[in-house]
Amino acid sequence: MRFSSTIAVALATTFIEASALPRSGGACPAVWTQISQDLTQMFIQADGQCNDDARSAIRAVFHDCGTWSSSQGLTGGCDGSVFLSDVENARPENRGLQSISAKLKALASQRGVGVADMIAFAGAHGTLSCPLGPTTKTMIGRIDSSKPAPDENLLPGNASMSADTIISLFADKGFSAADVAALAGAHSSSKQFFVDPSRAGAPQDRTPGIWDVDYYSDTITKPADVFVFDSDIALSQDPRSGPAFKSFIGQQAAWNQAFVDTFARLMLLGVPQEGLVDCTSALPPPRDSFPGANTPSGASNLTSRRNYAFYKPVKQVA
Ligand code: HEM
Repeated sequence: MRFSSTIAVALATTFIEASALPRSGGACPAVWTQISQDLTQMFIQADGQCNDDARSAIRAVFHDCGTWSSSQGLTGGCDGSVFLSDVENARPENRGLQSISAKLKALASQRGVGVADMIAFAGAHGTLSCPLGPTTKTMIGRIDSSKPAPDENLLPGNASMSADTIISLFADKGFSAADVAALAGAHSSSKQFFVDPSRAGAPQDRTPGIWDVDYYSDTITKPADVFVFDSDIALSQDPRSGPAFKSFIGQQAAWNQAFVDTFARLMLLGVPQEGLVDCTSALPPPRDSFPGANTPSGASNLTSRRNYAFYKPVKQVA
């Protein structure tokens, strides 16, 4: 769905007014519980794994918020512009986000909430929609903008970028190299369509429907049916990000914790925090035991154990 800039501005104004509701602080508006139910329908496929809409929603958080740099202060970043600005939406790095953009904008309009909040909430819901996915603290009350992010080169989202470029761009957003290693694990749930169109749909680990740590081992061992990004290989090898990257192999709980710590910060880049309300409780519960997931021997579920030293990849690494 495409919007003219005039319509987009009008819609953005509507969304700002709708978003004004929760900015007084306090309880999470009940509408987010309804939205959570909507997203569960949208994101979980018949076999219980997360689907393409879920992975696109997770990526959308990165592409909305990741255009922020420290020079922008409390502007830009997580402002919905990746969906609300036609200019930004059409940039090459945002290819593949058009379908989820149309769906989440329609849902935001239907439920009367802001698009920037919808992107953040849907991204957090997306990780939970993948079995073994963690709960990220999710605040609501962002201000929408249809102004395009100022510089497309601020988003470290190109698979041919060097580790140095990616780490530098993230450092300007307040993330360490270890944080980058944790965030890149989102590729546990991802598929590529545009890096190599001849292999459209190829996943970045063997289990894109499950939020597991196979990504970290698969990036190193490169199974034949996995499409490994050069950027992920570079991050696994760089002396700054590599140790953290390798430390997550086989360590589901450690990665989940590191991921939610960084993802919660990512989804607040550029956002004035006064008046935000905590809507984490509107998210669905984690599904940390799942048929086919190779959870630790003897553990009833993942949250019941603090140490997953016995966690093994779903398929053994060759
Ligand atoms: C570290 C730097 C990163 C680079 C270079 C990068 C690059 C890419 C590329 C090239 C794609 C494939 C797009 C396509 O061809 O369809 C992709 C997909 C994806 N990325 Fe990243 N990404 C990075 C970080 C992140 C972060 C921080 C997140 C979220 C927290 C994320 C989440 C995803 C997801 C979920 C997909 C799959 C989207 C889908 O299947 O539709 N990425 N990424």
